[in-house]
Amino acid sequence: MNTVLVGAQWGDEGKGKVIDFLTEESDVVVRFQGGSNAGHTVVVGDKQYVLHLVPSGILHNGKHCVIGNGVVMDPFDLMRELEQVESWGFELKGRFHISERAHMVMQWHRAIDKAEEAARPEGEKIGTTGRGIGPAYAAKVGRYGMRVGDILRPDFLDLVRKQVAEANRKLKSLGALELDPEDMVKLYTPMVSALMPYVTDTIQFLHENLEANKSLLFEGAQATMLDIDFGTYPFVTSSNPTAGGACTGSGISPRSIDRVIGVLKLYTTRVGEGPFPTELFDADGEKLRDRGGEYGATTGRPRRCGWFDAVIARYARRVNGIDYWAMTKLDVLDTFPVVKICTGYRRKDGFVYTTFPADLEALKDCEPIYEEMPGWQCETSHITDYSELPENAKKYINRILEICGAKLGVLSVGPARETTLRINI
Ligand code: GDP
Ligand code: IMO
Ligand code: MG
Repeated sequence: MNTVLVGAQWGDEGKGKVIDFLTEESDVVVRFQGGSNAGHTVVVGDKQYVLHLVPSGILHNGKHCVIGNGVVMDPFDLMRELEQVESWGFELKGRFHISERAHMVMQWHRAIDKAEEAARPEGEKIGTTGRGIGPAYAAKVGRYGMRVGDILRPDFLDLVRKQVAEANRKLKSLGALELDPEDMVKLYTPMVSALMPYVTDTIQFLHENLEANKSLLFEGAQATMLDIDFGTYPFVTSSNPTAGGACTGSGISPRSIDRVIGVLKLYTTRVGEGPFPTELFDADGEKLRDRGGEYGATTGRPRRCGWFDAVIARYARRVNGIDYWAMTKLDVLDTFPVVKICTGYRRKDGFVYTTFPADLEALKDCEPIYEEMPGWQCETSHITDYSELPENAKKYINRILEICGAKLGVLSVGPARETTLRINI
């Protein structure tokens, strides 16, 4: 059984937690896009683990973890994270693999990311994580990127010098500090031997596993509304976090994918800039942030919070072909007397959008249309079986399923591993 798991909103839906849950029944967990802009949290007992580049499956010794060709990988972030994973007591030897085709995020990509963000006028800032993601993907698509396999080339350090010289032209034009090529050479020299043990032909590795009937689990980072093609462009990330990205980012055919799971937070959050039709600026928004602990796992920024948006959830179901939802954070809504579901955006002239418009300007004049439902006003985080849920919580979930389609597969009622209910899968 090969599963693709994607975020259905603007990220931070709880993908890490659900991946950790599904790793139990998988053999290989694969990251296929994004980089260390991701922050995936897994809570086990009284320990909280946050993973950025390493697949969340690493917390299960014995399972293989792969960084696929579609990822952009900062070797310094990776090394730091691998050290951390080992200090937590998990093994890496023989079970962690990086594609030789994955691109590397270099120091100059980070510098350019920050300089470009600083140069954008107010209103045009994206609010990037500053991890060099956009410039690394720009280099990849522009065909001047640096791939992991390049560290094996005898002229790798010359390549570093050449790239720094080019990046300096860009940094200078942005009014930012230039980098010293020889400093960069010194910085990257030890990287070669540190990375080498993990560099693999992951396409061959994944296909050998497929042929041996092993179960592959594809761990999406970011989310549908941050997708470079389907999201709120230009307020997006630079990769395809949607289901198709699992194929292009790993070398697996769409015909090998058996099911797609969409992770859906039962309200909406967004970190960074860009449109957010159901955003709340009132006490309810504050309450969602407080109860949900809505602060970025990568940057610590407070997340913007709002009511559940069924327009984007249905759009995500379509774009990804979602079979099952993993719904998360039901418990955060426990104390609300009323819960709301947005079913469309109404323009001033009365026109109603029931799918997300490409033109973000169109959204400026829009008001969300809400269906209000009574809350359940009791604790749900101790619940271990769906049948024990309060009736109003079931009604809320069922209404979302009715509007958005797909089945409920997993329901999460708390951050901890055990607070995960298996429903239909
Ligand atoms: P990801 O990026 O999609 O993996 O999500 P993050 O880890 O960035 O953010 C999700 C946050 O919600 C983390 O702090 C999780 O520990 C937490 N979380 C996940 N599921 C639940 C849940 O059902 N209830 C509560 N209260 N917290 C949850
Ligand atoms: P996970 O995997 C939430 C957002 C940034 C910014 C935009 C572009 O934890 O869900 P980038 O650094 O990628 O160029 O920033 O995308 N963003 C995320 N928001 N969760 C994430 O990852 C994100 N990764 C990037 O805040 O608005
Ligand atoms: Mg996150």
